[in-house]
Amino acid sequence: MLTRLTPAAGLCRRFLSTSSREIAFAFDIDGVLLRGTKPIAKAGEALKLLNKNKIPYILLTNGGGLMESERVKFISNALNVEISPLQIVQSHTPYKTLVNKYEKILAVGTYSVKDVAKKYGFQNVVHPIDIIKYNKFSTPFSGVSQETIDKYGEEIKDLTTKPFDAVLVFNDPHDWAADLQVISDVINSDSGMLNTLRNEKEWQPSVPIYFSNNDLLWANQYNLNRFGQGAFRYLVRTLYSQMNKGLPLRDFIIGKPTSITYDFAHNVLIDWRQKLLNGETNSLKQILPNLGSKPESSPFDKVYMVGDNPASDIIGAEKNGWESCLVRTGVYRDGDILDKCTPTMIVDDVYDAVTKVLKKQ
Ligand code: G3P
Ligand code: MG
Repeated sequence: MLTRLTPAAGLCRRFLSTSSREIAFAFDIDGVLLRGTKPIAKAGEALKLLNKNKIPYILLTNGGGLMESERVKFISNALNVEISPLQIVQSHTPYKTLVNKYEKILAVGTYSVKDVAKKYGFQNVVHPIDIIKYNKFSTPFSGVSQETIDKYGEEIKDLTTKPFDAVLVFNDPHDWAADLQVISDVINSDSGMLNTLRNEKEWQPSVPIYFSNNDLLWANQYNLNRFGQGAFRYLVRTLYSQMNKGLPLRDFIIGKPTSITYDFAHNVLIDWRQKLLNGETNSLKQILPNLGSKPESSPFDKVYMVGDNPASDIIGAEKNGWESCLVRTGVYRDGDILDKCTPTMIVDDVYDAVTKVLKKQ
């Protein structure tokens, strides 16, 4: 079957999709497509070019906080381009594969992550705001108002009678003082029971803790890069060591640049390519890969990661056999030292990345 590329400004030409030259893209969001809620120039045009030519792509972000369908709806509207909910992997998307592993979880992040966790299928979801509602003295330095507690806090019937099974950080928390305290209480508890403190001091926390990414910095509308979940994780780990004779916290980390997330994303790309070929782009059915499963027999000769953060986007692409396009519209600035990675290309913006890659094709 020919993949006939619509000749857009002479950039594309037809080539056999049965040749071993199939390509695909993964686009970072913050600093590539958007700065905060503001679209980056020509980002919509770049994706439209690929839509027109049925070249598979997904969005691969360390951001999160909403259901994939909600996040994609916002980006589709902001960029005025059709994107399916099956075309996005957020930092916490792989948590869907943990639903049958843990029943009662502490879901950390913006208040919306509670709804995300429940829609993923977690049966018993607690957010730090629920613990503040239960006992305000548990987090004396919390920055939240009584109005916020009343609005988002819920009574959890077995809060103090049933142990937590795991702590899952979904996205960047907004009340670090309270979240640091609540997480520390749970991972140093006696077998996951709130209001308890274990005697043992060890590197294994009382319950497993997952972080959905390790971004020290990210790019929003402010002119300087901002602390991300990686900064929060550093504080959790530092406080845990202080509480456990200097021992390091054994935690789990997913998100870019981990292979867990890149393999998960590669599987999602392969699934989306099949839907493109079958003309099923309106389908909402997705067979999710297991956490840690490597993509089998990828049809792609090259996958291009377009990102703004060398530490997550470019290193991740390089470690996982992808090509990488480093854009100048986010975290990276000309002159920054790139000592741990070598991008395939450094480009002005996402449109520049797509057109340069298509020209190479
Ligand atoms: O929380 C957002 C930040 O971690 C970066 O997201 O889209 O640049 O991977 P992104
Ligand atoms: Mg980014």
